[in-house]
Formats: sequence, C-alpha cells, structure tokens
Amino acid sequence: MNFPSLFSPLQVGPYRLTHRVVMAPLTRMRAERPSLAPRPLNAEYYAQRATPGGLIIAEASPVMAGGFGNPGVPGIHSEAQVKGWRAVVDAVHARGGLIFLQLWHVGRVSHSSFQPGGALPVAPSAVPISAELKTMTADGKPASYETPRALETSEIAGIVEAFRQGASNAMKAGFDGVEIHGANGYLIEQFLQSRSNLRTDRYGGGIESRARFLMEITEAVIGVWGASRVGVRLSPYGIANDSGEADPMPLYSHVVQTLNPLGLAYLHFIEPRSSGAGRAEVNHQNVPSAMVLFRPIWKGILITAGGFTGETANAAIADGHADAIAFGRIFISNPDLPRRLSQGLPLTPYNRATFYGGEEKGYTDYPVYGELEPA
Ligand SMILES: Cc1cc2nc3c(=O)[nH]c(=O)nc-3n(C[C@H](O)[C@H](O)[C@H](O)COP(=O)(O)O)c2cc1C
Repeated sequence: MNFPSLFSPLQVGPYRLTHRVVMAPLTRMRAERPSLAPRPLNAEYYAQRATPGGLIIAEASPVMAGGFGNPGVPGIHSEAQVKGWRAVVDAVHARGGLIFLQLWHVGRVSHSSFQPGGALPVAPSAVPISAELKTMTADGKPASYETPRALETSEIAGIVEAFRQGASNAMKAGFDGVEIHGANGYLIEQFLQSRSNLRTDRYGGGIESRARFLMEITEAVIGVWGASRVGVRLSPYGIANDSGEADPMPLYSHVVQTLNPLGLAYLHFIEPRSSGAGRAEVNHQNVPSAMVLFRPIWKGILITAGGFTGETANAAIADGHADAIAFGRIFISNPDLPRRLSQGLPLTPYNRATFYGGEEKGYTDYPVYGELEPA
C-alpha cells in the first residue's frame, strides 16, 4: 500500500494542491502606514513563498478598525487594503500558487491606543488578560492589558457583519478562499472559552451558546464564499494570550461536530505543544495532540501546525492524523521550504528578532537554497 506523504496531491475544496506543505498564517507587521494596506514588499514576500499548486494562508487581517492589536498589521476593511491585497494575490497567482486570507478580530488582545477614539477594546466579558502578560501601545511603548468592555448583545451582529464584509473584501482582492481565525485567544476564542466568556445572553453560558458567535461568523462567511472555500482555525488545549479551557474536549468536540455538516474546505489546528510560538520559543511537554484527538471526529480535510519537521510531517500524514501540515517559523526563513523538504536540503534557521515589523531584513532577504545567506 502507498501511504500519502507531504508530496502527494490533495483536493481542498475546489483546489487540487500539488503538495501538502502549507504556509501557516504569520503576522509580520510590515503593512504600509497609516493605511494598513499591503505594499509591494509584502507581495514580494508572499511571491517568494508561492509554488505551483501550493497553499499559502496569508497573515491574520482584521475585518474592522476595532479588531487590531498590533502595529503595522494589514487590514481587510478598506478600499486601499483591498487594492494592496490584490497585488499580493496577483503575485502569488503569477507563480501558480493558491492563497487564502485569515480573517481576524483580536478582541481583548488589544489596547485602547489601537481603538477608534481611544475606546477600550471589546470582548465577550469585562475580563482582562492576566497582568503577567504585557502588551504594547500603538506607538510601541510597553503597556499592561486593560479590562475590556463587554459587548452589548445588540453589537454582536455588527461584528458578524464585519466578518462577512471582510470575507467579501477578500473576494474582491482575488483570494482563493478565507480562513476564520478562531484560535490563539482572540475574539472568537474568547467567546468559545468559559474563562473569558461570562455572558448570560444567548452568546454565553453553555457550550452551544459560547460557540454561537463562531457559528454565526462561519455561516456569514460561507454566505459569501460557499463552504468549500472557507477554512476555520482552532487551537484546542492552547494557552496563547491567556486562553485555555479547563476541559477542552466537550467544547471542541461540539465545535468540530457542529462544523462537520457545513462542508468546509478544511479545519486547521495549532498543536498545543507550539501554543504561543509567536511570542517565544516554546515546546510544551506532556500536552495532547489536537490532530490525534480530533481526527476521529472531523470528517473533512485536516491541516495542523506546530513544530513539524519534514520527517514528523510525513509521519503525521502517512499515519492518517492530518491531510496537510502548515509550517510557520521555518517557512519564514526558508522561502523555498517545499523544495527543501522534498529534497531533504538543510534549512536556514530563523531569526526571531525580525519576526515582527521592519523592512526586508528577516522578511524578503532569506535565501533560496544554493544562494548566499544575507550578510
Ligand atoms: C511570527 C509568527 C506570527 C504568527 N501569526 C499568526 C497569525 O497571524 N495567525 C495564526 O493563526 N497563527 C499565527 N502564528 C502561529 C503559526 O501560524 C503556527 O501555528 C505556529 O508558529 C506553529 O507552527 P511552527 O512550529 O511551524 O512555527 C504565528 C506564529 C509566528 C511565529
């Protein structure tokens, strides 16, 4: 019997991927300011990582002005941003690649300095992120997280509508699909989890009510794109941004089972061992494996990410735990990652200091194999 590998083709919705090395969504904070529109440098970065029939999931992009929590993050709520993204998408398509956009709202993982009118960030409930975690203001000064303002029930439809509009803007920009960011302690996950959601209306309380916000957003986005071009990202057992459900299994089993009949393009996990990899080097021990736990429940295409090497990725696919593997940090430093993995070539190490913000350095100057390393 022939087991599938990273280099077996894969059908994802209407798209035939030629390989299963997916580029994970990666916030890089290098959009144009103040428009927060992607610029030519961003198009070059994505084009470098595009391969014929390879899937890129572009970085998380807020669907409304109140959805930002980091400087220089590209949005998907203005004409200028749609135009900027259009150039990114065209550059990826010119190389035969596929590109989805990740739709984002950070909720309480923001600071009033990012908010229109300097208002408090919004969240399901007025529960702040732990004081042990620090953030930065819009002009880069260290700050504590504030206590967010709990959304009124009547405001929630407006946020669902912003996701619908963001999805529609992504379509105008020419993307091949969209991914809903339901992971890493951001707004959707704040609704899902009981520590951050103390609501007593129909968006809080039991699991079904806490999942309602995600489901309404997913249905709205499907209304724009059709289910086969929509993915959802979740991070069960994750702890990023002070997230974490005491007993994740009932919650996430319900979510996965509710998503099952929709016919999504894929479900995308962040493996708990890599939770928080955006902030620091992590390798959490003795944590469950999301793909192993949820594969038996999820009926569709499963993508997962978190500390994979070519070898462990191939094993996960051959063992049937996942259909494709998303790579984050090593895709930053290896623009030709699919080729390196297929040929067993050595990898260039990444430089965490240049992950967020800046220009070419640590962004578009990583070499393809055989070129000289940057000075
Ligand atoms: C610099 C950086 C930025 C990230 N930005 C995002 C993001 O925008 N959306 C998201 O869902 N995950 C984000 N992540 C998580 C990655 O998508 C990925 O799940 C994680 O890095 C684990 O994969 P890896 O071990 O291959 O890096 C980010 C991670 C890093 C290192």
